[in-house]
Amino acid sequence: MNPSDKGKTFAVTTPLYYVNDLPHIGSAYTTIAADVIARFERLLGKSVLLITGTDEHGQKIQRTAESNGRSPQAHSDEIAAGFVALWQQLNIQYDRFSRTTSPRHEAIVKEFFQRVWDKGDIYLSQQQGWYCVSCEEFKEERELLEGHRCSIHINKEAEWRDEQNYFFRLSRYQTDLEALYKKRPDFIQPESRRNEVLSFVSQGLQDFSISRVNVDWGFPVPIDPSHTLYVWFDALLGYVTALLDPDSEPTLENALSKWWPINLHLIGKDILRFHAVYWPAMLISAGLPLPGRVFGHGFLTKDGQKMGKSLGNTLNPVALVSRYGADAVRYYFLKEIEFGKDGDFNETRFINILNADLANDLGNLLNRTLNMVRKYCGHKVPNCSIEDIAAEHPLKALGLSLGEKVKTAYQELAFNQACEAILALVRASNKFIDEQAPWALYKQGQQQTVEQVLYAVLESIRLSAYLLSPIIPKISSDIYKQLGFATDFNDKTKIAVAAPFTIHASWGILSDKQKLGEPRPIFPRLE
Ligand code: MSP
Repeated sequence: MNPSDKGKTFAVTTPLYYVNDLPHIGSAYTTIAADVIARFERLLGKSVLLITGTDEHGQKIQRTAESNGRSPQAHSDEIAAGFVALWQQLNIQYDRFSRTTSPRHEAIVKEFFQRVWDKGDIYLSQQQGWYCVSCEEFKEERELLEGHRCSIHINKEAEWRDEQNYFFRLSRYQTDLEALYKKRPDFIQPESRRNEVLSFVSQGLQDFSISRVNVDWGFPVPIDPSHTLYVWFDALLGYVTALLDPDSEPTLENALSKWWPINLHLIGKDILRFHAVYWPAMLISAGLPLPGRVFGHGFLTKDGQKMGKSLGNTLNPVALVSRYGADAVRYYFLKEIEFGKDGDFNETRFINILNADLANDLGNLLNRTLNMVRKYCGHKVPNCSIEDIAAEHPLKALGLSLGEKVKTAYQELAFNQACEAILALVRASNKFIDEQAPWALYKQGQQQTVEQVLYAVLESIRLSAYLLSPIIPKISSDIYKQLGFATDFNDKTKIAVAAPFTIHASWGILSDKQKLGEPRPIFPRLE
């Protein structure tokens, strides 16, 4: 366990997104995952801080704004608003939205820079090399494709740079970093990403430049305003600025007082080096404790190519959510793609999965069970004592171990496994109903058995809805409502008390005191 996982607080970050364009589904993917983890940790009763925001400096943004004939700030304001709107549409409950152009952020960056400067880790030197503006990163010649094109932004050529820059002494931290990866094997996840970093670091770390002379759109370097700070140096610190309470003075001490170290940085695999190598080195230099873990997920691809703003092959998340709803989009990406691996988006598959899992397996199960309860049990939760249900009962047996299993899956960010385990209970419930045929039992006058069958199924639906609530909060709230609870999974301040994990993640809590609601479809079939 990481030291930062011990406490009652949990801070998780998404990357701070570049504002070169409106968000696309790749940005939405990380943010959905972060929101799901935040919601899950809240169910556990932790005090949670979900940080997201925008990364607004640098040459890429400066150029985009110029080509749109706008000031970089006006451009950033407009795009940042687009991110806020999408997060709202996707039902993302973030706590902080960090914008790197805010004056509070500048204060934090200055103070941090000073610490690293005082440590003797910053010096002036000559920078020569190939720079990919879309990545905002220098590339080794061997990393580039023919014509010096970037391997991530294949339609963009890297540009040759030869200028004086300030450098950060990354090379000094090679041993510290290697010791960190060894001592904390779960610092970088998944394993494949960890191996990439280990191999990169073992080749020897080189100092990297943290200032620019040809870019105006950035904070001035505190000790030499003829340079601006390299966008990544400032951006990573955006996580720290986000920790400040809205009314507290922007000092490092205040920012680090409650939520530091951050438990989890969620990122895509293209920005792994910055988070798993540069960032910890910068923090060690400044004398600060290190974050809990860095998880690098895969890319969403279209026809095998990374979807991206720079490549222009993106899927518009606003259109997708408007058409299918937030829960559908959230569910599809987390259920269908193994977090950590790449995954292709395909609309037919999207529709098929949602129909199979949410409309048929879960939705129909709830609907037909409630209708049977109405017919055979006077529309009341049957009065069953779970002690009377045998331990080897197929649903009880699955249900009793499901909570812990799903908890492990969520905490390991194995969202697809969490969904599969829950869906296994849902499918077992459908099978159980078909086999038991309560309609026939009812005709035979076996009222007690009918009640026990329907109770077991209702309870399994409830547990499934509870455990899926971080992913599909609206559908889960609707199911809970039909089962007679007033629980709103979107009420983030009350949810841990209204439906604590210790109680609701176990099997057998549904009581006959609850008044069932009207059966209504929870997810309409998609055509
Ligand atoms: N601004 C930097 C991050 C700074 S964090 C202090 C950045 N921004 S970005 O907008 O280009 O990318 C943000 C995140 O979106 C990255 O984690 C990236 O991996 C992710 N994605 C961008 N395109 C993606 C896909 N096609 N699929 C999945 N995620 C992808 O990098």
